[in-house]
Amino acid sequence: MTEDLINKKDIYFPSYIGTNDNLINLLNRATRILCDWFSKAEKYGPLPIDENFKCLMPDEDCNSTEDLFSDIQLLLNNSFNPVHPGSLAHLDPPPLIFSILGDLIAAGLNNNLLAYELSPSITLLEESLCKWFAKKIGFNDSSGGIAASGGTLSNLNALIAARHNSGLGSDPNSVLLVSEDAHSSFIKCTRIMGLDEANLIRIKTDNNGSIDVQNLIETIDKCLINKKKIFAIVATLGTTVRGAIDPIKEISEICKERNIWLHVDGSIGGIFALTSIPIKGLNSINQANSITINPQKIIGITKTSSLLIVSEMRTLENTFSTGLPYLSSKEDIINRGEIGIQGSRPAEVIKLWLGLRFLGLKGIEDILKSSIKRKDFFIKNISKNKYDVFSGPLHIVSFLPKGIAPKDTDLWTKTKVNELIKNNFMLSRPKFKGKYFLRVVMGNYNTNESHIEQLLRLLDT
Ligand SMILES: Cc1ncc(COP(=O)(O)O)c(C=O)c1O
Repeated sequence: MTEDLINKKDIYFPSYIGTNDNLINLLNRATRILCDWFSKAEKYGPLPIDENFKCLMPDEDCNSTEDLFSDIQLLLNNSFNPVHPGSLAHLDPPPLIFSILGDLIAAGLNNNLLAYELSPSITLLEESLCKWFAKKIGFNDSSGGIAASGGTLSNLNALIAARHNSGLGSDPNSVLLVSEDAHSSFIKCTRIMGLDEANLIRIKTDNNGSIDVQNLIETIDKCLINKKKIFAIVATLGTTVRGAIDPIKEISEICKERNIWLHVDGSIGGIFALTSIPIKGLNSINQANSITINPQKIIGITKTSSLLIVSEMRTLENTFSTGLPYLSSKEDIINRGEIGIQGSRPAEVIKLWLGLRFLGLKGIEDILKSSIKRKDFFIKNISKNKYDVFSGPLHIVSFLPKGIAPKDTDLWTKTKVNELIKNNFMLSRPKFKGKYFLRVVMGNYNTNESHIEQLLRLLDT
């Protein structure tokens, strides 16, 4: 055995004796490689440096430390780099530095949010942080929540709870009402819940991309006539393509009158509830039964860090509790595996908690305000003679050349995306209502006004 392999064998697992110097050296080395990779973005832009990633599989013998560090380097060189200021395509901002530490600590702890005995401090942390969010939203003491790996799963947790608590079980006549601009995760949710696409009813949107309340009322009436049973209505707080917000106050009144569960998909906009930034509808979200908040999408908490906040914690317990016969429980503490669809779960809440503690409410507001400011600057300066611009109160803008035929939008957006990336600007091209758009997401804290001016010059040519 070589010296290197002997060293490696010593550090298969952290030692419970001594100072774990080998592990410290490895972590230092990995940190250096990661930080070097961040700064390589200056030269290489948001796209991978290389396109030669070989997925090497385990060999019969163990690989050396040098082999493994070369694997890591290869992986990084072939990865998308979100810290570059031209990385403006998606809801994937640069990672917040204390969230990176949170991920490291979560991995080292290797605690399991399935049950209190496997994660005593983290169970309390997740419970408390969800309650803190719930209070900020304006819910009362019976509220709470659960983390999940992404907005899709938080939405799914909510819809399963909505259907269960409405007593509809697997009734094939149960339907869900969402905006025609709602996220595609609702299609997945209905499929997972054993429903057809016909059980997902789309409500028309107005010129701002918000639910048309009149159309919602008519649809509800039609459902009643057709003996369809509505188990939830979803209002989106920040749509994916243009950041539009549904009229949450009006929708909540409709839901209250008819005793229908209101779920707010605040995957993008929900985090604004922690700030004083005036966003229409935000102060009515406390009328909802459940809200998805996904801070990974704007403020840079590392993926994934999604929360489902509910007004009544017992609705989650009623839905998901099965008993965990192989685990102990403690009086007054709910095992977190009993209130959501996931069983074993990593301590993702640590990176959310550390990230939020690091920023403080002022820092969160600063990041969100800066995103809106960049969006406003972009909209103010983009040529209105040349482009039709679609946006809302949040930090997302989609646009297209004026008068372009829908069939030409595919080629135009492809060409433009390719031209822009040659100048290190990465934009996305969502397909939306039969057309492709060019979309810019202004959630990158490294992007400043001179970068935006450069982007606008490129769009002007
Ligand atoms: C409005 C909205 N809801 C839900 C989701 C799904 O979130 P995730 O990709 O974290 O599952 C997204 C994703 O962009 C979204 O924009």
